[in-house]
Amino acid sequence: MSKTKLPELIIGDLVIELPIIQGGMGVRVSTAKLAAAVSNEGAFGVIASVGLGEEKQENLTYEERSKLAFREMIRGTKRLTNKKFGVNIMCALTNYNDLARVAIEEEVGAIISGAGLPLHLPSLNKNSKTKLIPIISSARAAELICKTWLRHYDILPDALVLEGPLAGGHLGFKFGELINPESPRLENLLAEVLTVVKKFESENDKKIPIITAGGIFSGKDVAKMLKLGASGVQMATRFVCTKECEVSQAYKEAYLKCTQDDIAIILSPVGMPARVIRNKFVERIESGERIKFACPFKCLKTCDPYAANYCIAQVLVNAYRGDLDNGFVTCGANAYRVKKIVSVKELIIEITEEALRELEEH
Ligand SMILES: Cc1cc2nc3c(=O)[nH]c(=O)nc-3n(C[C@H](O)[C@H](O)[C@H](O)COP(=O)(O)O)c2cc1C
Repeated sequence: MSKTKLPELIIGDLVIELPIIQGGMGVRVSTAKLAAAVSNEGAFGVIASVGLGEEKQENLTYEERSKLAFREMIRGTKRLTNKKFGVNIMCALTNYNDLARVAIEEEVGAIISGAGLPLHLPSLNKNSKTKLIPIISSARAAELICKTWLRHYDILPDALVLEGPLAGGHLGFKFGELINPESPRLENLLAEVLTVVKKFESENDKKIPIITAGGIFSGKDVAKMLKLGASGVQMATRFVCTKECEVSQAYKEAYLKCTQDDIAIILSPVGMPARVIRNKFVERIESGERIKFACPFKCLKTCDPYAANYCIAQVLVNAYRGDLDNGFVTCGANAYRVKKIVSVKELIIEITEEALRELEEH
C-alpha cells in the first residue's frame, strides 16, 4: 500500500482518487452542493433521489415532478464539478425504474442502491458506463445479487457497498439485532462478504470492490477497513455537519448537541428500522400517536398509508427545513462524536491525513 497517497478506488474504468464515497442521504440532505464539493476534493459525491419533487406543480404528476427534480439535481451537480459523482436510489421507491433511467440517461458515474435488493437493476442499464453498486448487509445478500445478475443478465455488480449496523438512515438488519450489543460487526461481515465474492471474482475474472459503510468516522477507521480488505469506505454522518450540506441549521445542531443516549432505533413506515436522534416528536410517534396526514402520492412500495402513523417523507422534509417539532433527523451511531461544522475540504484532509499516518505507522 502506498505510503504517500491513499489507494485509489477503482471500479472498472471509474477511478476515484480517494477511497471514500460520501453516502447518499435522502430527503435533500445530500444535494448537488455537497456531492459536487466531495467529488471536487477527490472523493466520490453522491446525491440522493428520494424526497425530491414533492412540491405540487400545475399539470405535473408526482412521478413527473420527481423525475424532473432529480434530473435538475444531476445537472446542477454537473455544473459544480467536472468530476464523476453518483446517485443513491432506494429500491423501496415506487418510481425506482423511472429514477434509474434518468440517472443512466444523464450518464452519472454510479447508481448506488439499497433499502431492498436491486435484483432487476441491470435490465434498466443497456450499454451505459454507469456503474451499478448494490448496498448489502450480509454475505447472503452478496451471493444472491451475484447469482441473480449472472443468471439473468450475465454480469456481476461493479462494486458492493457493505453497510453494517452502525450506519445512518434505514438499516438492513432486524430491530432486535440493532438494539443488541452483540449485533453483527462490520469487520466480521466484511470477512464473510470477501469470501463469497472471491469465488465469483475468480470464476468470472472480474474484480468486485467491497466498500464498507456504517460507523466509519475517522482516518483510523478508514485505514482499518483498507487493511481488512475493503477497497474503500462510504461515509455519511460526517458529511452532515459540513458547510456545504444544505440542511437547516437546526438539523446540524441536532447532531452537534446529541449524546450517545439520544441516538435511537425506530421502526419506520419504510418497513425497516432507522436510526434517529430522539426528540419530542420521536417520543410522540413511539407512543403510538397518529400524526394525521393525507398521502398525496404513494412514494414507497413498502409503506401502507392506512397503517403508518405518520408520513416519513413529510417528517424528513420538516427536519430538513428545521421544523424539529414535527420531524426528526436520521444519523449514524457515531453522530454524537461530531463536534463542529467544517468545510468538505477540511473534513477530507483530516480523514485522509489521519488514514495515511495510520497506514504508515502500522
Ligand atoms: C441523514 C442520512 C440520510 C441517509 N439517507 C439514505 C438514503 O436515502 N438512501 C440510502 O441508501 N442510505 C441512506 N443513508 C445511509 C448512508 O448513505 C450511509 O451508507 C451510512 O449512513 C454510512 O454510515 P455512517 O453514517 O455512520 O457514515 C443515510 C444516512 C444518513 C446519515
